[in-house]
Amino acid sequence: MSNYHIKHLEEYYQVYRKSVREPENFWGEVAEEHFMWRKKWDNVLSWDFNTPEVKWFQGAQLNITENCIDRHLLTRGDKTALIFEPNNPEEAAQHITYRQLHARVCQLANVLKDQGVKKGDRVCIYLPMIPELSIALLACARIGAIHSVIFAGFSSTALSTRINDSDCKLVITSDGSYRGSKSIDLKAIVDEGLEDCPGVKTVLVVKRTNTAVAMKEGRDKWLQPLLDKAYQDCVPEIMNAEDPLFILYTSGSTGKPKGMVHTTGGYMVYTAYTFKNVFQYTENDVYWCTADIGWITGHSYIVYGPLANGATTLMFEGVPSYPDYSRFWEIVEKHKVNQFYTAPTAIRALAKQNISFAEKHDLSSLKVLGSVGEPINEEAWHWYNDVIGKKKSPIVDTWWQTETGGIMITPIPFVTPTKPTYATLPFIGIQPALMDEKGIELKGNQVEGRLCIKFPWPGMARTIWGNHERYKDTYFSAFPGMYFSGDGALRDEVGYYRITGRVDDVIIVSGHNLGTAPIEDAINEHPAVAESAIVGFPHDIKGNALYGFVILKESGESRMHDNLRKEINQIITEHIGPIAKLDKIQFTSGLPKTRSGKIMRRILRKIASKDMSNMGDTSTLLNPEIVDVIKDSAL
Ligand code: WT7
Repeated sequence: MSNYHIKHLEEYYQVYRKSVREPENFWGEVAEEHFMWRKKWDNVLSWDFNTPEVKWFQGAQLNITENCIDRHLLTRGDKTALIFEPNNPEEAAQHITYRQLHARVCQLANVLKDQGVKKGDRVCIYLPMIPELSIALLACARIGAIHSVIFAGFSSTALSTRINDSDCKLVITSDGSYRGSKSIDLKAIVDEGLEDCPGVKTVLVVKRTNTAVAMKEGRDKWLQPLLDKAYQDCVPEIMNAEDPLFILYTSGSTGKPKGMVHTTGGYMVYTAYTFKNVFQYTENDVYWCTADIGWITGHSYIVYGPLANGATTLMFEGVPSYPDYSRFWEIVEKHKVNQFYTAPTAIRALAKQNISFAEKHDLSSLKVLGSVGEPINEEAWHWYNDVIGKKKSPIVDTWWQTETGGIMITPIPFVTPTKPTYATLPFIGIQPALMDEKGIELKGNQVEGRLCIKFPWPGMARTIWGNHERYKDTYFSAFPGMYFSGDGALRDEVGYYRITGRVDDVIIVSGHNLGTAPIEDAINEHPAVAESAIVGFPHDIKGNALYGFVILKESGESRMHDNLRKEINQIITEHIGPIAKLDKIQFTSGLPKTRSGKIMRRILRKIASKDMSNMGDTSTLLNPEIVDVIKDSAL
């Protein structure tokens, strides 16, 4: 029998050993005993990290929505699958049962089919955090269409780049979205973006804010009337285990976003199994992840992982500060949330507020607290543990990535003793390695290096959409034969892992993965800008904030600089979105460059962090004199 639910530490070690020694037997048993397959696999795993090619459950057939919905109908038909908590606390929450979810997913699936969407077609979803968003993912999966969710905070340019990259033919959006006291005209952003997307033939529009929108004849359709006419049952498309389920974009070291491709069978097994164990979910619990479904956290741990376990999963439309900073805690009390999963940036922002915001609410339902997205600092960890968890709810600091599909390094609550700021132990089946810069594996404990994974796991992304070479270069070339995460980590004296942060050109701001290259590309579009370089510097709430060093074509006067700063942030907002705005912009006459023309970001990072003491080895710089110039006018 497989160990689907791990309950104590010896069991963790025992199951972990099995998962490493006999991975095929282990994952084969989990897959067989806990999921519904239309046809069993011929082969649990075939892999080669050099090509790289990874296939799990090859030959198997299934539909993930049968696993997430249909199979629960007999035993859990009237159980709440989805709780929707609206932005405005005065608006009633919605409880959608598994039976209702089934009907709504089928209706939307039928609408998509009527609009000509077929298995393998790409559908772009650009929606706020409303039930239609979860339903849209599942409706695509029902008919075998590949969903590409674009976070609804992204700009029209970011949207059109992603739509074109994966050649989406249909977009699902809404008239607008609510965020705290603001509302955003999403449809207008879509209209602007679609000017550059000739491949999009249909736009389905959900009514949410009732704002007036332009509807383009022949292309744009209100969704509700189509749903009303649609049949409430839809035969699921039978998919191969390795058929793509979705594409999700993440930023990289060049300007172009990477469309990570996740496939069906392995992703389902891995997200479901991690969800069950990392949150110790038991029947009748109410689970809440505060992420947006526009990110991988939402895909795996609001939608697929919880629903595959027949869980009740809460989705929240709003922000933690509206109407005031007690909103999260009010929701925990109102819905008696048992597992709560959020990001360190939110924890830090909430910890800054008056403690009464948290204390006036009954948080006694909480059993497990989760953290994800960036390293959680000691202070935030203790506040979360003491004020929210009352020292009785273990904190699971979960390390993973868009690319990994599911949680990789994490404590299992009530099983793994926690340690502040440590993600602790590898999850079942995960074989981490720490590598030095020369590519030698650092064995034993008390070592620090680059975090790699030595062996495939079912949830990993299989490729980058349309660019397998880039997938290989980015993840499998730095350390041949291994997956390289881009993060640094240390292993302490008992073998616990602590993630130390990115070692590449990605900066994590408020838990969002931002590549320096796309931001620099945007800035360089400004007619006055000759060149730019972005680095991160520590920030109280955001974890990291962005600092830009900008060379102007002609050095302007200082009174013009403030205007230029505004314009530069405006361009960034247009190209990427407000999340990528710079906190500080320093104009400079040059940037420290190596003889090969590479910007030495290490030096810029020190200057941005006000750590001016030791600049390290600058002997390879072409222009070492620039370092003092930049230091002298640092902000
Ligand atoms: C990067 C991945 C995984 C879902 C959200 C982000 C950082 C993530 C942790 C953690 C330290 C973390 C890493 C990683 N990160 N979780 N618990 N401790 N760092 O997904 O946008 O793909 O970002 O987020 O740097 O590489 P993502």
